[in-house]
Amino acid sequence: MHILVTAGPTREYFDTVRFISNPSSGKMGYCIAAEAVARGHDVDLVTGPVELPPPGGASVRRVVSAEEMFRACDELFVKCHALVMTAAVCDYRPSRKIDHKLKKQHRIRSIHLKPTEDILAHLGKIKGDRTVVGFAMEDHNHRMHAETKLRRKRCDAMVLNGIDNVGSDRATIDILCAERGWLPTVSGTKGEMAARVLELVESLAAHAK
Ligand code: CTP
Repeated sequence: MHILVTAGPTREYFDTVRFISNPSSGKMGYCIAAEAVARGHDVDLVTGPVELPPPGGASVRRVVSAEEMFRACDELFVKCHALVMTAAVCDYRPSRKIDHKLKKQHRIRSIHLKPTEDILAHLGKIKGDRTVVGFAMEDHNHRMHAETKLRRKRCDAMVLNGIDNVGSDRATIDILCAERGWLPTVSGTKGEMAARVLELVESLAAHAK
């Protein structure tokens, strides 16, 4: 299979040196890309800025902003059979980026934000028979929010990710499948969780044929 994986945060700059972002480490996405390569798949990894070495065997596309991630994914998705969207895409970006470093004496105290494109929702709409898996980051009403996201973004499965997983080498995840409902909770290293996600992607893709 040809699998598109996204990883890491995006950065939304409001001047030449400052940005809005989040603490995503990219570890889960990189583990998924490495596991997919190990299982013999062709892998495109679209990654935001992270401190990780590129997974060997994957074709890596580095991006910074949500807009760049959108463009890269939109281009690569068409030739893929599956998408695993682990990236922590910023939901908002500054409505303008100043082309120099803002000085203190400008006394700017607020930044006007506008929404970014929801990449997963866009790809979910055009997915056809591709397998699409999202990652929901929740800190309250976890399952309810993951269920809503699965439907809204037209995913085949949504991996529920708690905030304790962020930056850690380990994770506890709950997977919601559109066809099979909630699977039992699993915990382990991110490498082990990546294997679970890939098993599911392979099984969903086999049934979609
Ligand atoms: N996602 C995306 N584009 C965005 C925001 C999120 O593609 N602009 C994807 C993420 O990569 C993830 C899924 O949507 O696979 C869920 O992301 P999450 O941050 O949990 O949810 P949001 O859609 O951002 O909703 P909220 O912030 O209200 O929880």
